[in-house]
Amino acid sequence: MAPGPVKVEPFDLVVFGGTGDLAFRKLYPALLHREMGDQFSEPTRIIGASRRPLDRDAFQASVKEAVAKSLPQPPDADRLERFLNRLDYVAVDVGAEKGWEALKAKLGPDDRTRAYYLATGPDLFVPVAKHLGSEGLATPRSRIIVEKPIGRDGAGAAAINNAIGAVFPETAIFRIDHYLGKESVQNLMALRFANTLLEPIWNNAHIDHVQITVAETLGVEQRGPYYEQAGALRDMVQNHMLQLLCLVAMEPPFSLQADSLRDEKLKVLKSLVPINADNAAASTVRGQYRAGFSEGGAAASYLQDIGKEASDTETFVALRIGVANWRWAGVPFYLRTGKRLPERFSEISVSFRPVPHAIFESDSKGIPANRLIIRVQPDEGIKLWLMIKEPGPGAMRLQHVPLDMSFAKTFHKPTADAYERLLMDAIRGNPALFMRRDEVEAAWRFIDPIRDAWSRSNEPPRPYAAGSWGPAAAIALIERDGRTWNEEHE
Ligand code: BG6
Repeated sequence: MAPGPVKVEPFDLVVFGGTGDLAFRKLYPALLHREMGDQFSEPTRIIGASRRPLDRDAFQASVKEAVAKSLPQPPDADRLERFLNRLDYVAVDVGAEKGWEALKAKLGPDDRTRAYYLATGPDLFVPVAKHLGSEGLATPRSRIIVEKPIGRDGAGAAAINNAIGAVFPETAIFRIDHYLGKESVQNLMALRFANTLLEPIWNNAHIDHVQITVAETLGVEQRGPYYEQAGALRDMVQNHMLQLLCLVAMEPPFSLQADSLRDEKLKVLKSLVPINADNAAASTVRGQYRAGFSEGGAAASYLQDIGKEASDTETFVALRIGVANWRWAGVPFYLRTGKRLPERFSEISVSFRPVPHAIFESDSKGIPANRLIIRVQPDEGIKLWLMIKEPGPGAMRLQHVPLDMSFAKTFHKPTADAYERLLMDAIRGNPALFMRRDEVEAAWRFIDPIRDAWSRSNEPPRPYAAGSWGPAAAIALIERDGRTWNEEHE
């Protein structure tokens, strides 16, 4: 029988932004699932911290309500009770400098692992880190976990990294990119480095191009004020999508040790061909959704969603990126992501080169190239599209069919949420799936010139109807190169 999850040492986790959306929607359910998996040791505590005055009972009740949906059927009442008993709350007002004494008193002696999770807006990263330092809360066994986005640009990221770095050593800073905790993203590494089949053909001699799509059906929901400041390039490309690109393009690391992995990703980020005012028009498309149809009903425009009359914030981006090294020279990486697209799915599609010579009736150009699809979500799995002969007598008729491995069907168990893995890794002090400072800053060095080029061009984002695949220019971006976005993603 496969071994179960390894228990983690007792810890205190303090969640700043402890009554916020991220905490209720992602963090507490993830922690509850780890409780259900019996992964905690005693005594472990989870302390919510935010401005709202709330007592412990009221906090426990609101967490209970929030996690109810993620409970197993029938609910495991004992474990739920055990989980709720771990919860405590302290009101901390970072701006008004209130509540730190109470937090200190609650945490007590400095004798075990502490993790401070900053599930707050990025404007609070620096003040919280500074307070943790000045209040003597950054103990030797403490770690700090920060959510993306780290800054709005390279300079902002460096300022945040400096401020946090003045209080915590780099080994104690865990910068979350939750895509790195997704099961299928982990599997990409297994696929590449636990098999011999792919590595010899994983290069420009055999691969024609790569597509990475992260499509969402939702609009900006309640996050308008944040999103209006961010836009899709900062919200999705600077982090999640570039990390996916790195995992596809990186050289084999010499081990799974954190720095070995992160060194290889960093090399990819440094090899990206810059996109700036000279080539942005040919290599980027940005869009903003207008009213349309989504998820079976009428959908408002972005401007209606944020309640403004005008905005240049993009809710869709498509990019054509080159990786300037021996392995990838000449292989374009096409990235696209957007809100209010027709389907929610994320996938990496690797297209191999076409057959070099036609021996079948249809000419070689008519034979679709092999494609490897790594489906990140939903229905995580791997598909390898191959040509086979259609059964039956008569002419040799070829068909493009997938070798299809769905993880749910193969392993008969649901995949864990990314936050479950990442929270446990941070508590254990394993930074492999977190972004190192230099990676974050290198990613901004690629992103900043794109933003500059866009703002200098003075062109607004192109409109697209909610429920469509983005502006027509995104289709033209790839079709100009004689390629198409993968449509075989069911
Ligand atoms: C977040 C972005 O990082 O990722 C959101 O801020 C986006 O805008 C989300 O919706 C997508 O995550 P997932 O796991 O649902 O693909």
